[in-house]
Amino acid sequence: MTDSELLDIRDLTVTYRRGRRRPPVVANDAISLYIGRGETLGVVGESGSGKSTLGDAVLGFAPVTSGSIRFEGEELVGASASRRRELTRDIQVVFQNPYASLNPAKPIGDTLREPLLAHGLARGADARARVAHWLGVVGLPPDVAQRHPPEFSGGQRQRIAIARALMLEPKLIVCDEAVSALDLSIQAQILNLLLDLQQRLGVSYLFITHDMAVVEHMSTRIAVMHHGRIVEHGPAARIVQAPLDEYTRSLLEAAPSPDPEIQNRRRRERTAL
Ligand SMILES: Nc1ncnc2c1ncn2[C@@H]1O[C@H](COP(=O)(O)OP(=O)(O)O)[C@@H](O)[C@H]1O
Ligand SMILES: [Mg+2]
Repeated sequence: MTDSELLDIRDLTVTYRRGRRRPPVVANDAISLYIGRGETLGVVGESGSGKSTLGDAVLGFAPVTSGSIRFEGEELVGASASRRRELTRDIQVVFQNPYASLNPAKPIGDTLREPLLAHGLARGADARARVAHWLGVVGLPPDVAQRHPPEFSGGQRQRIAIARALMLEPKLIVCDEAVSALDLSIQAQILNLLLDLQQRLGVSYLFITHDMAVVEHMSTRIAVMHHGRIVEHGPAARIVQAPLDEYTRSLLEAAPSPDPEIQNRRRRERTAL
């Protein structure tokens, strides 16, 4: 691993046991990947391919059977619960459905303050100022802090979820289908916000999506997952323009390209196989 690498995953295998009657599911099968500082690794694949399991393994929620996940050189597999809590300073997450992760009964400001209090980083007026700051960074006015989640649209709630992920100024954010529930025009706004934040803050993303167009827009490199394995991994432009794997080609063909010329070329290449 070089100094510029933040996360280094080697031969990661995650197996879900499902009782005695049903066979275990190998959801991640010998996955090896890395993420550099300030870059985005896109992970794409259809539903059930093991993408969320990979994100969960990085976050410490998945039953890792073997392999290694190193963050700034530190082994995360087998880390204690208390070390995991500390690591939430550096590794955060944005899920698909912010409504599930924002307590509807709590003012937004309380939810955003929680991580600051939990880590002893700020309280009182200082914490309130930081909440206002990060709301501003994601394009929301400070009075949002006094309001409740049900008052906001899906796109606004996703901005709030991003603000919460930013409160501790993490080095890595796992984005698991972070825009998949949003309308296309709102999706574009949130994706551009994430790109803008990366430019400003140098944060890295593990960007998980089933959507080839989205992953292409966001990623430095792309890993394509299928049945728990990485079938192809490389620079985003290479994966999209010259996919080597049959499964990657089928994903690209299924993804409508905004450019009809590209879409036609993909179709021709596909039928020429
Ligand atoms: N908690 C769990 N228990 C048992 N099987 C699971 C669990 N979570 C995921 N799986 C299985 O693991 C595989 C990968 O799931 P997942 O990582 O959620 O894929 P994706 O995010 O790509 O849709 C699927 O076959 C899924 O059914
Ligand atoms: Mg998933």
